[in-house]
Parts: sequence; C-alpha cells; structure tokens
Amino acid sequence: MNLIERPRRLRRTESIRALVRETRLSPDDFVYPLFVCEGEGVRREVSSMPGVFNLSTDHLVTEVEAARGAGVRSVILFGVPDQKDAVGGQAYAEDGITQRAVRAIKREVKDVLVIADNCLCEYTDHGHCGVIDGGEVLNDPTLELLARTAVSQAEAGADIIAPSNMMDGFVAAIRDALDEAGFEQTPIMSYAVKYASGFYGPFREAAGSTPQFGDRRAYQMDPANVREAMREAELDFEQGADILMVKPALPYLDIIRAVRERFDLPVAAYQVSGEYAMIKAAARLGWIDEERVALESLTSIKRAGAGIILTYFAVEMAKRLN
Ligand code: PBG
Repeated sequence: MNLIERPRRLRRTESIRALVRETRLSPDDFVYPLFVCEGEGVRREVSSMPGVFNLSTDHLVTEVEAARGAGVRSVILFGVPDQKDAVGGQAYAEDGITQRAVRAIKREVKDVLVIADNCLCEYTDHGHCGVIDGGEVLNDPTLELLARTAVSQAEAGADIIAPSNMMDGFVAAIRDALDEAGFEQTPIMSYAVKYASGFYGPFREAAGSTPQFGDRRAYQMDPANVREAMREAELDFEQGADILMVKPALPYLDIIRAVRERFDLPVAAYQVSGEYAMIKAAARLGWIDEERVALESLTSIKRAGAGIILTYFAVEMAKRLN
C-alpha cells in the first residue's frame, strides 16, 4: 500500500512523542490557591475538596514552604475570617487575616510570589461580593472598599492583586488607589471574565462564602456568552489590567482561546474547585485515573492559550513534572 501520509510514524515511541509534543506544562505555570483561617495549629480539610485545607498562618507557612520545595513559585491567598459584617471590614483591616498571612509568608519563605485575591464575599455576613442595599449589590460604593482592600494587601507585601468581584470599573478603581499609595509597580491580575458558575460550589464551602440570599448572576457572567466576555476583557485591558484571567477553565476553553487571540497580555485560567472536586471524586470511586485526568485537563487549559494556571493540583503536578 502506497500511503504517503502516515501520522502514526511520529507516535510510535515516547521519545518521538516527546520530540514533537506541542504543549508542555511546567511548575512555573502554576499558581497554588490557599485558604487561610484564624487561630493556630488549624489544618481543617475541606470535605468537598480532598487534599485542600483551611490553614492557620503557621500551617500556611509550612504549606508554602513545601510548595516552594516542589517547585511551585506562586500562591494565591483567600482569607477565611472569623468575623464577618455587612461591609466586609476584615477584607481591608490592617491586621485582617489575609494581611497577616501575606506578612507571615513574606517573612518566612524566600522567593515566593504572593498573589492576594481581592473580593468581599469571604468577609461579608451576607456572602455577596459587595455592599448590599434593598437586595442589590451596589457597584460604586463597593469599588471604594475593594480599592482600600487592594492598598492594604499591597502594604502587607502582596506582589500581585487579583480582583475577582466583577463590579464594573474595578480595575480602574484599584489601579488608581494603588498608584496613589505608591504601589505603581504592583501588577493587577484581573478576573476579567468570570462566569456565574456551579463549579464554585466546593470553594464556597472552603471559604464560607455562599450568598445568604439570591445568587451572583447580577454581577458574574452568563455562561452562554462569548461576545460579552470580549467586552469584559477589553474594559479591563483599557483600565490597565496586567494579566487577564478566565474562570472557570475547562468548560470555557473556547473563551480562553478567544481572549488569547484578541489580547497581547498574559492570559491566566482558574481550574476551579468544582473541576478539582469532580476529578477527585471520580478517582476515589475508581472510575478515572486521577493523575492522568488532572494532567490532561491542565494540558488542555494550556493548549487553549492560558500560560498561567491557578490549580489546586499545583503541588502534586509540580512533583510529577520534576
Ligand atoms: C471570590 C472567588 C470565588 C472563587 C474565586 N474567588 C468564588 C465565587 O465567586 O463564588 C472560586 C474559586 C473556586 O471555585 O475554586 N469572589
């Protein structure tokens, strides 16, 4: 038989597959999300996220050291405060849980990039990402609080601010406040395209941030929309975002690709809690091979165009890639 094209020639052995592989994951790509809580000696597993913990600052430092040892260079912090109120006061308190966590990591661990998630939902008693009036999340009054939060996070030593609240104008508000406070060198990694997703379920258990009424559909995006995603990314780009994020990741690979093609900024994607939980759960039932599926998902996210991946698998995968 006189077949000219035989693509299988390049698939016969692992060495040849490695030679022609188009997408490679590296531990440098990963950002490791961590949940920091009050107290000491606390290491409480999140029931819907095996292997993920609420950590008090002492355990947090140990975890970051271990991550760094495995080759993970970046972490993103989510605060789980004991005290919540209507305006999320602990989000921008000088001695808030996130601010203390950033200081502890910066003091104890060398050479690790600390990203601070910037939102109010973990800090408000109603669980929404902003100030409430008459059942509505108010946009502009919320911006002020987010800006204060950003400055206090930068003052604590955060290397990057990552606003995830989806208020209109949040990048401009935070950029202005950071510049005014002398942090013009602090980058903003914007959750530019964040969908109202069922995949955040386990995170809300981890962060205790489930809305007490209603849902987030009046500020997070409709999963059906792609043109709107371009509009959101464009606005953040114009307002001075340094990195654009798409979230969740695997169900939105088309969006990651579209953002990658349209904008010349680094693109990040967040493999969220539900994506992680599904892989863990199916693996526990013996239905899938956890490591293989995790690797395949992360490779797909990178292939779609994300150079930065926020993932709860960061440390396990970094070990595997080393
Ligand atoms: C806070 C925030 C959320 C996530 C990241 N930042 C939750 C939400 O919007 O409800 C989700 C991350 C995950 O599911 O892993 N606004």
